Amino acid sequence: MIYLDNAATSAIKPETVYKTLDRYTRLHSANAGRGTNDESLFSVNAILEAQDTAAELFNISHPQNIAFMQNATYALNAAILGTLSNGEHAVTTVIDHNSVLRPLNRLGNFTAVPADKEGFVSPYEIERAIRHDTKMIIISHASNVCGTVQNIESVSKIAKLHKIKLMIDTAQTAGILKIDNAVLDADFIAFSGHKGLMGPLGTGGLYVKTPKELEPVITGGTGSSSEIPEQPRVMPDMLHSGTMNTPAIAALSEGIKFVMSIGTDEILRHERGLAAALRSELMNMEGVTVYGRQDGIGTVAFNIDGLDSAETCGMLKDFALRAGYHCAPLAHKALGTEKTGAVRASFGIFNTYEHAQLLADAVYRTAKKFSKPID
Ligand code: ALA
Repeated sequence: MIYLDNAATSAIKPETVYKTLDRYTRLHSANAGRGTNDESLFSVNAILEAQDTAAELFNISHPQNIAFMQNATYALNAAILGTLSNGEHAVTTVIDHNSVLRPLNRLGNFTAVPADKEGFVSPYEIERAIRHDTKMIIISHASNVCGTVQNIESVSKIAKLHKIKLMIDTAQTAGILKIDNAVLDADFIAFSGHKGLMGPLGTGGLYVKTPKELEPVITGGTGSSSEIPEQPRVMPDMLHSGTMNTPAIAALSEGIKFVMSIGTDEILRHERGLAAALRSELMNMEGVTVYGRQDGIGTVAFNIDGLDSAETCGMLKDFALRAGYHCAPLAHKALGTEKTGAVRASFGIFNTYEHAQLLADAVYRTAKKFSKPID
């Protein structure tokens, strides 16, 4: 089985991540911040170090404003539901994931800005969607379906100009594209830890620029200020209720160090190169339709004409791919794949050109045999 589902999670991790997870689980699993014994303090230090590492990657000047959570979905929900009240207006895009669309749907007042056929959202259209009562813009840095990258630098300028809070969902891009918060100055950055950052499953986080403007959705024991009835308002405690998964956070820190040791420019060059190689092969095949753009991240969406994406995936069973709607139903409407879904191949740092070529060959054989003309 060749693993090509790195947009869902990077299933293969650097050795340092496995080792740290094992070491912390065996030797350093005391509860962080629950007491002043040396082991508990050791766990606190692991979290502090992970904050420093993540801050270095994103060029964030206040590492203490980074909270760790189990995934980007929790981070996005914490920022959306902790900032907006029922009925307050937000702008997002059709490319965004259900982790954004569902909380916004619950609040009941948002505009999903359309994308073109390749999944790109014009910043101009985002500006046009802003209303006098818009409180927040939420944009996915790159599509989890087809890999198209959005112009977040322009969107950041628009948010500043209109004095609207900006959240960037970097679930697909953290550890792959350069994300420089000194330039973006985002109000929130939601990130997944277990994808491009190479951490274990169940890791992610949220950077909060102005903690006092965020209402914590989850409250409870933080190990700090136990005598007061309210949730403490200092970061990261305000978002760290309950026992933290310190071994996973320490391992995530190692994943981020691995990313920084290679550099996002090199990671992007590698993954985009593999995707571009696969994409060019598929685009020249009869009976195959490819979505997205050549300059996206390492994610390629395609279909064999006349087949449902799940059917195609079933025929390509030597590869770990993901078919269907990828929790992003509006993105599929934009790409024109709302009836079939799409097959997604997503490359990671440990994939090779041979993997791209083997998949291209398998798609060729399958399309030759099973593709049907579409009207
Ligand atoms: N959002 C992840 C994906 O695209 C899980 O597969």
